[in-house]
Amino acid sequence: MTLQLRVYVPPHPLIKHWLAVARDAATPSVLFRSAMTELGRWLTYEAAREWLPTQDTTVQSPLGICPATYIDPEVPMAVVPILRAGLGLLEGAQTLLPLASIYHLGLVRDETTLQPSCYLNKLPEKFHPQTRVLITDPMLATGGSIIKAMEELTQRGVDPSLTRIISVVAAPPALQKLGAAYPGLIIYTATIDEQVNERGFIVPGLGDAGDRTFGT
Ligand code: PRP
Repeated sequence: MTLQLRVYVPPHPLIKHWLAVARDAATPSVLFRSAMTELGRWLTYEAAREWLPTQDTTVQSPLGICPATYIDPEVPMAVVPILRAGLGLLEGAQTLLPLASIYHLGLVRDETTLQPSCYLNKLPEKFHPQTRVLITDPMLATGGSIIKAMEELTQRGVDPSLTRIISVVAAPPALQKLGAAYPGLIIYTATIDEQVNERGFIVPGLGDAGDRTFGT
């Protein structure tokens, strides 16, 4: 079977609602942050399907024994927020994945060349090969940043097929690069926009997610 990048755009009214709030240029930072938190929560909920490791057992209910399924606490879980904007999605993700370790990765694009550089790397030297990794980055534009993040992760033993990316707006250049480099990868995004302009901004997008999240 040939592996292919899978991109899901969950048709959920809560995701659509918070995307609309985030896109609106009149939304102030305080509300934009709420929108990011909610999108982080619902996109993580969608991404967790068939990704969170479970174990089957039985429980004794007050009235009898029945089959039961728990989240497997033995399988390592990690969330990797791509700073700064990925921090906006982190809080919502963390509420659903309270046992996950959080490894911050700070990447910033040069405004002229659009090349990302890394200014903070809190990744461990080596990941357990079974680690489930969730990357949070609201914007996948030219794809430079997410490819850099995937390189840093796979060099440390992360399996792309056990990795999920949540984003808010994804654009074709980033999806093409990810598909070529990591065909087994699965992405959950609130929307796919068609264009990236000459300044590297997704159009219509939602502007600069980092600046809008932090009011800078
Ligand atoms: C933005 C955004 C993504 C990246 C996407 O970050 O949050 O991480 O650009 O662009 P790309 O796909 O073309 O690489 P930015 O570098 O502006 O930093 P910030 O999150 O601190 O604002």
